[in-house]
Amino acid sequence: MRKQTSSKTGNTPNPPELLVVHGPNLNLLGTREPKHYGTRTLAEINLALAHRADAAGVHLEAFQSNHEGALIERVHAARAQGVRYLIINPAAYTHTSIALRDALAATEIPFVEVHLSNVHAREPFRRQSYFSDLAIGVISGLGSEGYLLALEYLLSRIAAE
Ligand code: DQA
Repeated sequence: MRKQTSSKTGNTPNPPELLVVHGPNLNLLGTREPKHYGTRTLAEINLALAHRADAAGVHLEAFQSNHEGALIERVHAARAQGVRYLIINPAAYTHTSIALRDALAATEIPFVEVHLSNVHAREPFRRQSYFSDLAIGVISGLGSEGYLLALEYLLSRIAAE
């Protein structure tokens, strides 16, 4: 029987197989710079992802934080939970956070990196990612559809395992 531990570790009786991690300012989706990020809210995106995963019989959870340490701790907890794959949009931490990169490297959970905007068609500093070389793949510039495409890919991997 699976040991139940406190929610502080992220361990729940029914842990997710897929975890979607959203970095800083993505809680403002819907109103934040729609020309870059579209008009869908984070809640709408997360709901669409959860519904699609549910239809495939896969348990998906989503987590957003504006704090680097909270994101790192969620990734650590994901390993303890046995999460199989991550979809992560590290947002601005994409370009700055060696610490979050190291958390992903340490936990060895395979992940897809997603960006709503095309980071290569914007300011030069957005072209640098601390995550892309560790990622299974990167989707950038397809708006909120990018998350769903990443999910389709991971569902097909899970189905094939
Ligand atoms: C982003 C791109 C990043 O450069 C930016 O800091 C974000 C969002 C995207 O989804 O396009 O916050 O990751």
